[in-house]
Amino acid sequence: MADLTLPENPDVPDDAENGVWLRCIECGHEHPPFDDIIYTCEECGGLLEARYDRYPTFEDFQGSGVWRYNAALPFEEGVTLPEGNTPLHRMPRLREEIGVRNLRIKHEGMNPTGSFKDRGMTVGVRVAEELGVDRLACASTGNTSAALAAYGARAGLQTLVLLPAGKVAAGKIAQASLHNARILEVDVNFDDCLDIVQDLADRGEAYLLNSLNPFRLEGQKTIGLEILEAFRDDHGRFPDRIVLPVGNAGNTAALYKCFREMVAAGDLAPGDVPKLTGVQAEGAAPMVEAIEEGLKDTRRWSDVETIATAIRIGNPVNAPKALPGIRETGGTAVAVSDAEITDAQQSIAAEGIGVEPASAASVAGLRKLRASGVIGSGEDVVCLTTGHLLKDPDAAAEAGNDPDPVANSTEAVLRYLAGDRGSGGVLGRLRRLLS
Ligand code: F0G
Repeated sequence: MADLTLPENPDVPDDAENGVWLRCIECGHEHPPFDDIIYTCEECGGLLEARYDRYPTFEDFQGSGVWRYNAALPFEEGVTLPEGNTPLHRMPRLREEIGVRNLRIKHEGMNPTGSFKDRGMTVGVRVAEELGVDRLACASTGNTSAALAAYGARAGLQTLVLLPAGKVAAGKIAQASLHNARILEVDVNFDDCLDIVQDLADRGEAYLLNSLNPFRLEGQKTIGLEILEAFRDDHGRFPDRIVLPVGNAGNTAALYKCFREMVAAGDLAPGDVPKLTGVQAEGAAPMVEAIEEGLKDTRRWSDVETIATAIRIGNPVNAPKALPGIRETGGTAVAVSDAEITDAQQSIAAEGIGVEPASAASVAGLRKLRASGVIGSGEDVVCLTTGHLLKDPDAAAEAGNDPDPVANSTEAVLRYLAGDRGSGGVLGRLRRLLS
């Protein structure tokens, strides 16, 4: 049985370092944090989480970005670009259309490499330095590889990334490539790539920086801290619900850990913990299945497909941490279709915010749960948008308007504006096809 409650005054094990250690969520076995390189429990193979000798309060945080929260992190500072301090947009038209009390969008696409992964990497690569490794590796649906390549480059470390061939958006590959990662494309799904990278890491060939690495989730915890602080400053209370896209379930696990620590610190009442609400694409929804069927862990889906390639994942490795997070906060999980994702991407873009398809899943999920009455009209909701529009330029172009060709004259532009759309638009495309 997973033990997920935090003791108020933790017993600090002898081999803790600077008040930090690792603890297995399954059997409770404790490990020193930086002696050996481990990712899972040496006793039972369970997932590990970082533990601290004290839980800081909001008063302890100073500065900006991820390292504002260093009192809740294993180090004072890290390899930084810098990351965090992302906007919490108001969305008045979408709020009105969906019908909730408040709707804010936490746009993680505004991090230095364009996704929330930077928050995990600034901490994870700092740990890699502490451990003295020289090669970093990850499997990725794209964003992790972009972030790892950038932070690895910043730290002067070699990076190796394994990607599912043909299933990674162009912007992400471009980033990994320019930051000089060694990029391997494997003709399998993300989950199989992760199996290989885990194997390499177990053989000591590379330091694993997927979200199985407990230190990455420490950095991602700061999304929750920023939301809690900013929402409270603007509205005088904490949000009722946080809706987020789910792939490997790292963010869901990280947000839950953030809430548990703030509850243990006494700064968040148990009744004020936001309900964690996960959204997956219909074609890759093992977490939704596990929530609906009351499973302790997910079943591995070997065939996954969705336009939201970032969350095209069938075996969410953090499910044992994330499922209790959804359940114990009173949240839920929902699957949305690719068409619903694209609709949401267009609606968010119509208010000036550009996100990639996986990110739009959060708003698609909110829309669906609001329509079915699971989410009430009185709720204060924060949707997490995890990656920038430019990550996936092909999906954006597909969801957006086509450029209209026009002849080389002002008259032609005026004719176009007057309503004769010339050869552009759907009719133009049809005409071109027929000619
Ligand atoms: N949104 C985006 C844009 C992502 O890139 C990811 C994960 C998720 C959501 C899901 O987050 O795994 O914490 O549930 N991308 C990983 C990658 C798997 O390799 O970039 P999660």
